[in-house]
Amino acid sequence: MRTVYVNGEYLPEDQAKVSVFDRGFLFADGVYEVTSVLGGKLIDFAGHAARLARSLSELGMKAPVDTDTLLEIHRELIARNGIEDGLVYLQVTRGAADRDFLYPDAETPPTLVLFTQAKPGLAEPDRAAKGWSVISIPDRRWGRRDIKTVQLLYPSMGKMMAKAAGADDAWMVEDGAVTEGTSNNAYIVKGDTIITRHLGEEILHGITRAAVLRLAAEAQMKVEERSFTIEEAQGADEAFITSASSFVMPVVEIDGTPIGDGTPGPMAARLREIYLDEARRKAV
Ligand code: PDD
Repeated sequence: MRTVYVNGEYLPEDQAKVSVFDRGFLFADGVYEVTSVLGGKLIDFAGHAARLARSLSELGMKAPVDTDTLLEIHRELIARNGIEDGLVYLQVTRGAADRDFLYPDAETPPTLVLFTQAKPGLAEPDRAAKGWSVISIPDRRWGRRDIKTVQLLYPSMGKMMAKAAGADDAWMVEDGAVTEGTSNNAYIVKGDTIITRHLGEEILHGITRAAVLRLAAEAQMKVEERSFTIEEAQGADEAFITSASSFVMPVVEIDGTPIGDGTPGPMAARLREIYLDEARRKAV
């Protein structure tokens, strides 16, 4: 049985408890992070910790513990659960208080929960060998997608729509332009140029995105941060997504139209390779 972490305690998963009055449960008043683990070590922990701090501060929430303690908890869970390859999920909520739309007083202790998910072979090449097919759907989420909140109902509905259509994921579209995937950032490649939406409140500032764009620039690849349409994506040479759980994943079909020759492209393959190479070297 898994050992999970709740508010200072390591417990078997069936003994860990959060209040029914928790604001994460009642109001989705909480934020989260997902950090991948390869070879028992954390990928880009510092980036995830920094984004967590930003999400908390944007919502006026207290950090439950400092970054060093957070790292210790991540490592302890990896060790206790014997995780080689997998994910660590972390969630912070504004804590438990009688139901009221107004925030509880600032003394209310936040809730901190972490658990692991084992994913043997998470970075194995065969996971990216086929690539994903995606459908497009309207983006019906709230306006502050740069804050990593636990309001994941619409992304979850998007995944269900993709599944119903026989696809792997959905790209969300707003005002004619692609924002991002249900739980990943979206890219196209035209010639030698990588195109991905600029940062703003409309998308999550992916930790994998930041690393991949930095590595692409270091490898002298051209990067354009701007919006693009589904039509432009369908006419692109390649497409791919990035996230902590999928790294760099080729996209081979959008709304039934094959991208390029309909197989994973060389730029996505190269980026996946250099990203994973650096991620493993810098893992903590
Ligand atoms: N999702 N965009 C959205 C909407 C996301 O939910 C995520 C991450 C990303 C990619 O961010 P990063 O590279 O920092 O993982 C982009 C995580 C993996 C999840 O919800 O499981």
